[in-house]
Amino acid sequence: MAAQIAEQTKVEPKVADDAAIVFEDVVKDFPGAARPAVNHVSLSVKRGHLVILLGPSGCGKTTLMKMVNRLHEMTSGYIYIEGTPIYALKLEALRRQIGYVIQDVGLFPHMRVEKNIAVVPNLLGWDKPRIDARIDELLKLVGLPPEEYRRRYPRQLSGGQQQRVGIARAMAADPATLLMDEPFAAIDSITRTRLQDELLRIQHTVRKTILFVTHDVEEALRLADEIVIMQNGEVVQYDTPLNILTRPANQFVSQLVGAEDVLRRLSLLAVKDLLEPLTSQAAANHALSIGIGDNLRHALGLIMSSGSDALRVVDEAGNPRGQMTLTALRQLTSDHPNTLLPPDGATT
Ligand SMILES: Nc1ncnc2c1ncn2[C@@H]1O[C@H](COP(=O)(O)OP(=O)(O)OP(=O)(O)O)[C@@H](O)[C@H]1O
Ligand SMILES: [Mg+2]
Repeated sequence: MAAQIAEQTKVEPKVADDAAIVFEDVVKDFPGAARPAVNHVSLSVKRGHLVILLGPSGCGKTTLMKMVNRLHEMTSGYIYIEGTPIYALKLEALRRQIGYVIQDVGLFPHMRVEKNIAVVPNLLGWDKPRIDARIDELLKLVGLPPEEYRRRYPRQLSGGQQQRVGIARAMAADPATLLMDEPFAAIDSITRTRLQDELLRIQHTVRKTILFVTHDVEEALRLADEIVIMQNGEVVQYDTPLNILTRPANQFVSQLVGAEDVLRRLSLLAVKDLLEPLTSQAAANHALSIGIGDNLRHALGLIMSSGSDALRVVDEAGNPRGQMTLTALRQLTSDHPNTLLPPDGATT
């Protein structure tokens, strides 16, 4: 750690009153890396807002987040929490005011749910009645009836339930700030949507400042008050979901969110909307079939992975009903230039 960071114990707070987390010209160089993982990032997260860090793999989202609770030490710059430079706080004090939730939860497998949630309150020396009451309160908040779930071990929970316990644990000592790094990434899409709804409900009730990493555009658009789009360690745009969609700062942003927009539309349409009589040799011979009620996003996935430009469409009983082609899919999306579909002929 450079002298500049040691100096920060003396820096006077100078951030806006409503700012909960402020990054000022933050840089992170990993030893031996060709370029900084985080490159002169400045941004301010308003208290009570849910801000999403969004961008492709390796763009620096996790690194930026981990510098807040000092799981990574920054190379240069400043980070303030509630107006205080993080290096002016003792590490334990810093981490106590920040809840942290990650993809694989990290629940202690040998501890029951109640004990997992009680880890930080125990460290803080709360008395037993207070801890007990807090466990019940949090389990109710995350939608797990305490009488049913308190005494279970993590292995006796589904992935989504474990994730809820992870959120309850992160909130145990009532931190003002939550850092969430792809907390729902390993969860099936239905449970994931439900967890997103619950997070929004919880956020509505408790109003934390949340910094949330994802590379799922849909998740970002659903959850965020503001979105930070990152590329190569830099912030490309920091704006509301609506502005990101309607006024993307550049081609990169427009492609990132626009492309997903097409996919989202596809996921709302069914294969039967594009059903044609069976004429393609490939569809007739090809082993891959798709259900007539499946969505077009699923169909696109099958087409891309099979290398065939047509699929055979079958009904619930498995009887052939016709075909569905890449050409038809492409026509459907042709009014949206930022499509992810391969150019003509790419899959033949
Ligand atoms: N401990 C480390 N040592 C060296 N380089 C690292 C380390 N952690 C991350 N990096 C590098 O820093 C860059 C940013 O990584 P980071 O984990 O922040 O990306 P990310 O945006 O979170 O990606 P993903 O979506 O895949 O999680 C990458 O190039 C990565 O290889
Ligand atoms: Mg990451």
